[in-house]
Amino acid sequence: MPRFPQLLGLFPPRSATVGLEGLYLGLGLHRLGSPAAPFVYANFVSSLDGRIALEDAGGKTYLPKRLTSPNDFRLFLELHAQADCLVTHGGYLRALAAGRLGNILQVGAHEAGHDLPAWREAQGLPPQPAVVVASASLDFPLPPSLRAHGQTCYIATGTQADPGKVAYWRDRGYEVLVAGAGKTVEGGALTRQLGGLGYRTPYLVAGPRMLETMVRDGCLSRLFLTTTHQLLGGLGFHGLLPGPELGKAGRLRLMSLYYDAETPAGAGQWFAQFAPGAVL
Ligand SMILES: NC(=O)c1ccc[n+]([C@@H]2O[C@H](COP(=O)([O-])OP(=O)(O)OC[C@H]3O[C@@H](n4cnc5c(N)ncnc54)[C@H](OP(=O)(O)O)[C@@H]3O)[C@@H](O)[C@H]2O)c1
Repeated sequence: MPRFPQLLGLFPPRSATVGLEGLYLGLGLHRLGSPAAPFVYANFVSSLDGRIALEDAGGKTYLPKRLTSPNDFRLFLELHAQADCLVTHGGYLRALAAGRLGNILQVGAHEAGHDLPAWREAQGLPPQPAVVVASASLDFPLPPSLRAHGQTCYIATGTQADPGKVAYWRDRGYEVLVAGAGKTVEGGALTRQLGGLGYRTPYLVAGPRMLETMVRDGCLSRLFLTTTHQLLGGLGFHGLLPGPELGKAGRLRLMSLYYDAETPAGAGQWFAQFAPGAVL
């Protein structure tokens, strides 16, 4: 009995179902990028009414449990396993330290991805990806797991970041990538610097703001989007893009679409993959 379900491939049209396990590993994303043109990709899960997170009455954001599923998480881990570099941010490290979010900084840290370290090894990838922490505040704790797993860690910020905080991290031996004219990181500058360091497949395990900066700068190669067939509601919420209208840079082309008719029970979900559309 397979641990994960059969999916109906909707696009490109297929006649038979396919197993979820291995679906995204089969894409071979780790072979698509190069230092000259890093392949930056991201994964989000959204409700039908466009919510990726909710806010409680006190304004604190949280991921409602019913948004995610073990099936979606398995695909997230398959994408994660193909990265040579994870791009996260200060907010995630603060949430991790406070126990509000789980650890997604190492491949193989979850039972649902127990096979992925061996898969990486077979592909000739290093045991763990490097980690880039994007932050304007430069105010976050680094988890001891990064050193314990021998992961290279970079900190990325803007030119106008607090020089004292930049010095704090450099004094502790961390390379600080200055990738943006203001306080924040810009997608184009960060992607070029990561390519210059030899990275090919940076995976955004960040939030909507990093997604936005990559899309605005035309640096996102692939967006993986799970749409759970639920209307969540919620007065305070986050969507995929927080900023002003994107215009043509927001056009995306469907690359694949799978339908998991069983999850969540009584509803379903789509697993979609998009590439940047042509800007005509
Ligand atoms: N459903 C999903 O698939 C999904 C995916 C991701 C996140 N989420 C949820 O969505 C909610 C909002 O996401 P988020 O917390 O990740 O919010 P966010 O507003 O995208 O990012 C928050 C933090 O990231 C850093 N940051 C982001 N972009 C940056 C840039 N260009 N330059 C420098 N620093 C940057 C900043 O850190 P500093 O404060 O250190 O400067 C900022 O505070 C959360 O509840 C999260 O759990 C859902």
